[in-house]
Amino acid sequence: MKAIIIIPTYNESKNIVRLIHALQYRFSGMTHDMHILVVDDNSPDGTAGEVKKLQSRFNNVHLLTGEKAGLGVAYTRGIAHAMENLDADVVFEMDADFSHKPEDVPRLMAEIDKGADFVIGSRYVLGGSIPKEWGVRRRLNSKFGNIVARYLAGLYHVQDCTAGFRAIRASILRNIDFSELGVKGYAFQVALLHQALVLKASITEIPVDFIDRTEGESKLGVKDIIEFILNAWWIRFDSLKTFLKFAVVGASGVVVNLGFFTLFLTAGINKYIASPMAIEISIISNFLLNNFWTFRWRKTKDRARIRGLKFNAVSFLALGVSYGTFVALSIFFPEVPPQLHQLVGIIPATLLNYFLNSYWTFKQVDEN
Ligand code: GDD
Ligand code: MN
Repeated sequence: MKAIIIIPTYNESKNIVRLIHALQYRFSGMTHDMHILVVDDNSPDGTAGEVKKLQSRFNNVHLLTGEKAGLGVAYTRGIAHAMENLDADVVFEMDADFSHKPEDVPRLMAEIDKGADFVIGSRYVLGGSIPKEWGVRRRLNSKFGNIVARYLAGLYHVQDCTAGFRAIRASILRNIDFSELGVKGYAFQVALLHQALVLKASITEIPVDFIDRTEGESKLGVKDIIEFILNAWWIRFDSLKTFLKFAVVGASGVVVNLGFFTLFLTAGINKYIASPMAIEISIISNFLLNNFWTFRWRKTKDRARIRGLKFNAVSFLALGVSYGTFVALSIFFPEVPPQLHQLVGIIPATLLNYFLNSYWTFKQVDEN
């Protein structure tokens, strides 16, 4: 397998040369085709120049340069280059400042070999650690970041969501639309992890010690923190979207149902005939909207025709429930206007409809 270690850099001239040498030393003990891709944002301290000098010695060292636009933008460019031009099977994320130990690279790769799609060098699983010399503020910052990602964004199952030391299979990355992530800075780590979870990637955390940098300084700024929190909200909202769309479709179905029912009554059709006709029309309009809007992105097992058949079965059941309710209410409460009976009948039918369509007709297939 060909693995590309992406190292974003901004003013890391004091670290990058030593790191590239340390990595080459580790690569010599590995069976995979290991490469390094430095993504430098025109660092004023001459980081790119240092890398260029090493390129004449090592043909597995690559360099991308560009304008400074944030950690996430640098990674996005790096990943695209690694996949399109360097033909990567696996992509690593790694910091340039020795916070991530080069000797851990083979450990992450070994998890890929065992079948994982997304390996995280984790500070917060048993055996992992953050620097002992970190003060209360840095500890709280890091803890807070993970709490926001886990409980606000909803990535509960991962202990270290903000980790910057990871190995990811290209097959996962290929299915991610990076232009849709909408993040520029450090929030990228959480946004990417979220996409991997959506794709049901198999995610493994292995313990690592995070070492405090001795050269240069951290680039994490206030802008990154604000974007980080906004992004977590966005992820939370995003997972609510399917449900919200379903609710909107449902509401439109109520309008369609009652509209046609009234229309049929006005046209002089018997209410016991008008009711199922209006129900059927609204079920069809709901299905079409859900098929082409709400669940559009879901990868379903069935072809459209089978989905249509399943939908018909669900509709038939829902129609029975809805019409049964209408008839029962008409008999027990004849003094109430029939529109109200029709409206109440929608409730149990909608619940049944949602449940069966979401978990059967439009059931998401598992990748593995
Ligand atoms: N190209 C580029 N552009 N590189 C950048 C930029 C940028 O705008 N900002 C940061 N980097 C590079 C740094 O040069 C370094 O190699 C790496 O990204 C990490 O940056 P640091 O500034 O050292 O980050 P940190 O130590 O505060 O944060 C670490 O912990 C975070 C929280 O766990 C990193 O591991 C982050 O990835 C992680 O999210
Ligand atoms: Mn750092």
